[in-house]
Amino acid sequence: MKVSIIGAGNVGASACYLLIAKEICQSVILVDINHSIAQGKAIDLQQASVALVSTTRIKTSNDYKDIEKSDIVVITAGVPRRENMSREDLLSTNIKIINEIVSNIKKFAPNAIIITVSNPLDVMNYAVLKLSGFERRKVIGMGGILDSARMAHAIIKRLENKSEIVNACVIGAHGEQMLPLLSHSFVGKKSVDELFDKRTCEEIINDTKLGGAKIVKFLQTSAYYAPAAAICILIEAILKNKKEMLTCSAYLDGEYGISGVSIGIPAIIGKGGIEKIEELPLNKEELKMLHTAATELKEQIDIADKLLKENV
Ligand code: APR
Repeated sequence: MKVSIIGAGNVGASACYLLIAKEICQSVILVDINHSIAQGKAIDLQQASVALVSTTRIKTSNDYKDIEKSDIVVITAGVPRRENMSREDLLSTNIKIINEIVSNIKKFAPNAIIITVSNPLDVMNYAVLKLSGFERRKVIGMGGILDSARMAHAIIKRLENKSEIVNACVIGAHGEQMLPLLSHSFVGKKSVDELFDKRTCEEIINDTKLGGAKIVKFLQTSAYYAPAAAICILIEAILKNKKEMLTCSAYLDGEYGISGVSIGIPAIIGKGGIEKIEELPLNKEELKMLHTAATELKEQIDIADKLLKENV
């Protein structure tokens, strides 16, 4: 089983490290426009693999031909938003990068499942789907597992008995319009809105939404260990055909009354990729918020479509 990671930066290299440590696949190919970075990280990772007596092998390449026969290609390449950079500028820069990468995936790994990680996540996942022409089940955006982990972290911090099992659920956009669902998040068998008072629930929602920004404030760059863990959870679910319910960005075609947008929702993930989208029974308010998030994403998707038409 072979996984290619395009973008050997913080997130890509950390995902590779976890793949080695957990021996999730036989080989990993690291590709980066900065080949020197990819080479340096690959040697470090190869040595980690030897130290861990891992069976996973790592190779780096500046030739996309080496991603041939990949079961999964993860796209973590892109530039972060810089000061004075509008959202549209970021979108336009990253869509150019995605365009180049996807044309190589189509050429050399047409049967792969693609996991999109680059931001703005939901729009990039939409662009990957459009540019690849792959079936929608084979194009998965990594966002919801990370946001749900951040929500679970916010819940656990407020529990007296920290060993209780926490299952958190965040849907919607991977960004400001994310929807931490209190009624679909559980501590044992109790939902979060049953367990905590209103004020604590609001704090949990806030901590979840600001989870990423808080890290940026300390690190001056975005998070990578938890994003890497979320990538590995998706890869493992696919390669081991776990048929696990995981929240990811998926292109909707009528589910929840939404079409033409890639947005975070729970789905069954197995060897076919997104094998089934099971609709959560959302209340009126939750559904309305999901629709608002979809409408805002649609505006960005329209910009993406325009850029794609202009051949980026
Ligand atoms: N082809 C291949 N690699 C590229 C290209 C390209 N056209 N353009 C940029 N890269 C590489 C960079 O050289 C860099 O090594 O992508 C890597 C990005 O790594 P980082 O800057 O460390 O960013 P990282 O923190 O890993 O985040 C990557 O994931 O979570 C998202 O918002 C995050 O969009 C960002 C992405």
